[in-house]
Parts: sequence; structure tokens; C-alpha cells
Amino acid sequence: MSPPTAIITGASSGIGLALTKHLLSLQWHVVMADLNPPKESLPKTTYLKTDISSWDSQAATFEKAYSTLGRLDFVALNAGMDDRDDIFASLSSESSKPPRKPNMQTFDVNLTGTYYGVKLAAHYMSLDSTAAGKKKKGGKITVTASAAGIYPLPVVPQYTASKHALVGLVRALGPVAEAVDIRVNAVCPALVATGLAPPGLMDNFNEKQITPMSTIMRCFERLNNFEVVGEEGWVGSGPTGATVEGNLGDVIEHEAPSRPESSEYLDEEGEKAWVRAYMERNKNFALQEWDQKS
Ligand SMILES: NC(=O)c1ccc[n+]([C@@H]2O[C@H](COP(=O)([O-])OP(=O)(O)OC[C@H]3O[C@@H](n4cnc5c(N)ncnc54)[C@H](O)[C@@H]3O)[C@@H](O)[C@H]2O)c1
Repeated sequence: MSPPTAIITGASSGIGLALTKHLLSLQWHVVMADLNPPKESLPKTTYLKTDISSWDSQAATFEKAYSTLGRLDFVALNAGMDDRDDIFASLSSESSKPPRKPNMQTFDVNLTGTYYGVKLAAHYMSLDSTAAGKKKKGGKITVTASAAGIYPLPVVPQYTASKHALVGLVRALGPVAEAVDIRVNAVCPALVATGLAPPGLMDNFNEKQITPMSTIMRCFERLNNFEVVGEEGWVGSGPTGATVEGNLGDVIEHEAPSRPESSEYLDEEGEKAWVRAYMERNKNFALQEWDQKS
């Protein structure tokens, strides 16, 4: 029998490290997946060097975690980075100096890497892990988006776009994942003191403007109810497709905007047509994936 097991990406610092410690206090085992090792040694953790923007690297981490621990209950897709390009700061007035290909790493990590993580988590959570003590197939996934996934932050447009995309991803995936007892939600932190921002930024803000880590942990708790993981009903319960902002002392839920009545193509009947058409096409995807491998 293994304890409940989590994989946390970006676990060596900031929010991921705080979440690791929170789960350890509740007797979880945590696989810390990060580019860099944690600076402190923590019991009941396994550090696996991982670049989430690389499929092979992240897939190897999930494979190793599952083969070692035998179960996967929760995944926090938390690793992220800010912008490494600035369109308008790099303009040249000389026609002989057109722009170079921009650095798109922010999308590769924040969006592509997180999508890879959902795909991998869904697989390993759906395996029969009763031998390791897990009561039922399924689990919970939380994506760390950002307040910049709800409101624009003009100084970091790639970050803003990638985090908005994560909110959309969670809203689209959440209801579908429910059918296989997986919950997918997003936490959107406001400004938290971590290693993410450039040096000196935080000096401009006072304590009253900075969100305490405890609020972010309450967001994760609201979505995942970690304390009762051992109970029969933990898998298959709780919200899915939800977006929760942690701002100062508040945990704020953000609903998707409601559709205008004229959007009949998205009403209940319309939705069935979309599902029928896409299921027909998508049933070939699994076969194609395996064809490519063999
Ligand atoms: N700090 C904030 O104010 C704030 C606000 C909103 C959202 N967020 C989000 O919270 C998440 C955690 O950030 P943080 O604030 O704790 O910052 P942080 O810099 O302290 O931690 C990020 C961790 O992610 C790791 N990482 C970066 N790229 C990686 C990759 N390709 N593969 C694996 N690991 C990688 C880093 O090594 C680091 O340990 C991020 O997604 C960030 O966008 C932070």
C-alpha cells in the first residue's frame, strides 16, 4: 500500500514548494518535477528532473513516478515562466533589420507543457491502482493559471495569452474529464512573493498588495479537498472546469461568460451535434497515435 501520491510540476520553488509542504503535512507522497532540484531536503518526496515543455522529459517523469509508487491521485500542473520576448521594445527603424524569430518558450512551457501534463495525468490516473491502495480509478488535476489568465497584464503578453488559454483549456476539459472520474480545475493567483518576477519588482509593493501563500493553498483545498483523499467518495467528487482566483485574503470563483441567446449552435441540441461529429472523427486518434509509434 502506498500513501496518496501527487506529482507537482515546478515544485522546487514558490507556489509548487508550498503545495508540496501542504500535502506532506497531510501524509501524501509528492513527486517534485522541476528543472532544478529543491534547495532543501524534504521527507516523503521524490525529485525528478523534468522539463515540462519536452514531451519525452515529462512522459519519463510520469512513467517513473507511477512505476515506483503504483498510484497517482493528484497532479498540480504548476510550472510556469514569464515572457522572454518584447515585440515593441525590439522594433528597428531600419528595413534591413526585420525582426528575428521570437522566443516562444513561455507558450511552450505554460501552455504546451501543461497540456502534455493533462494528457499524461489522465492516463496514469485511469489505470487500476487498487494494489497500491487506491480505491477507484480517477483523480484530480489542478492547473496553475494566473490572475493574468482573467485580466490582461500588458507587460507580459505571452504570459497573459498562455494563462488565458489555460483557463479556456480547463473550462473545456473539465466537464469531459468528469465522465472518467477526473476533475480538472484552475487556480489563478494574484501577486505572490516567489522567484517568478524579475528582481526588484516586489520592492514596489507593500504587504497589503501581496497575496499570502495561505490564500493560494486555500484555493487548492477548495478545489481538491485533500484531507479526505482516503475516503471512498474522494475520487469522482468536487468541482470540475472551475477557475478560482486567490487574491489577498479572498478565494473568488470566476464563471465563464454566459452565451448570448442567439448562439443556438451551442445550446443543448447544438452541443450534441458537435459531440457526434467530433467523436466520429476523434475515434481514429488513438489508433493514429499507436500507428506512429510502431
Ligand atoms: N508568483 C506569482 O505572483 C504568480 C501569480 C500568478 C500565477 N503564478 C504561477 O504560479 C506558478 C508557479 O510559479 P511561482 O510563482 O511559484 O514561481 P517560481 O519561479 O518560484 O517557481 C516556478 C518553478 O517552476 C520551475 N520551472 C520553470 N520552467 C519549468 C519547466 N520548463 N519544467 C519544469 N519546471 C519548470 C522553476 O524551476 C521553479 O522551480 C507559475 O505557473 C506561475 O505562472 C505565479
